[in-house]
Amino acid sequence: MSAAISIRDVRKSFPEVGPVLGPLDLEIEPATFVSVLGPSGCGKSTLLRLIIGLDTDHAGEILFDGEARDASVSMAFQEPRLLPWRSVRANLQLVCETADREQTIDGLLELVGLHEFHDALPKQLSGGMAQRVSLARALVNEPEVMLLDEPFSALDAMTRMRLQDALVHIHQARPTTTLLVTHDIDEALVTSDRVVVLADRPGRVVEDIAIAVPRPRDRTDARLIELKARILRALGTVDGTAETTPAPSSASAEPAAA
Ligand SMILES: Nc1ncnc2c1ncn2[C@@H]1O[C@H](COP(=O)(O)OP(=O)(O)OP(=O)(O)O)[C@@H](O)[C@H]1O
Ligand SMILES: [Mg+2]
Repeated sequence: MSAAISIRDVRKSFPEVGPVLGPLDLEIEPATFVSVLGPSGCGKSTLLRLIIGLDTDHAGEILFDGEARDASVSMAFQEPRLLPWRSVRANLQLVCETADREQTIDGLLELVGLHEFHDALPKQLSGGMAQRVSLARALVNEPEVMLLDEPFSALDAMTRMRLQDALVHIHQARPTTTLLVTHDIDEALVTSDRVVVLADRPGRVVEDIAIAVPRPRDRTDARLIELKARILRALGTVDGTAETTPAPSSASAEPAAA
């Protein structure tokens, strides 16, 4: 079951740097896909750490389904962080806690397009394939919330687009409440129900845009291009050097696994 997340008057400071986040208020509906954009250092990763409970030293409340309770929250990062001596399947087995473990893993490998690679070692995978395993691992225990911290930022533009499409497919098949932190505006536009733009440190919401375009989305859709301009303007007001995605090249570095 996907959880709703309520972030109420959340503020976070570090003694060395002072306030880095907030005051922040966000209500996230269950099963929605929300992207968070904002300048480097505005507290995006910090926000994810607060949500997953790695850091509880903050002001304000973070509630799941309206309650101050622990929720099952998974997280994936820029690096896949797979154990290099274990196969793809064994990496998933290590964390999988479901009763029908092998069936769960088979289903997820199918979902991320890696069924044929279940016996491969991480070194035999491309960056995009390894990141697919990382997504599968984040979903293996059917979390209520999935947090993704720039999961595709180390990949080339073409692979990144494929992974974004895979992420949309995964979310449609398993509508988990998802928070995606990214610097890639196009990634946010193609995947999300909603895009939240944070101000420079301390991160506060400067723009909150619903994207009512059905998925899968055409990246050249005029509505998305219009929203991109709005996001760029919002980022421009908080940071003069808004990072944007380079235009996709025609070549792909990822072996045909999808
Ligand atoms: N454990 C910590 N101790 C002290 N300061 C920290 C700590 N973690 C983060 N910070 C500071 O908090 C601020 C926000 O960091 P955070 O990593 O959340 O930014 P971010 O928005 O994720 O940036 P980026 O886009 O570069 O990943 C930064 O100034 C950082 O130096
Ligand atoms: Mg970060």
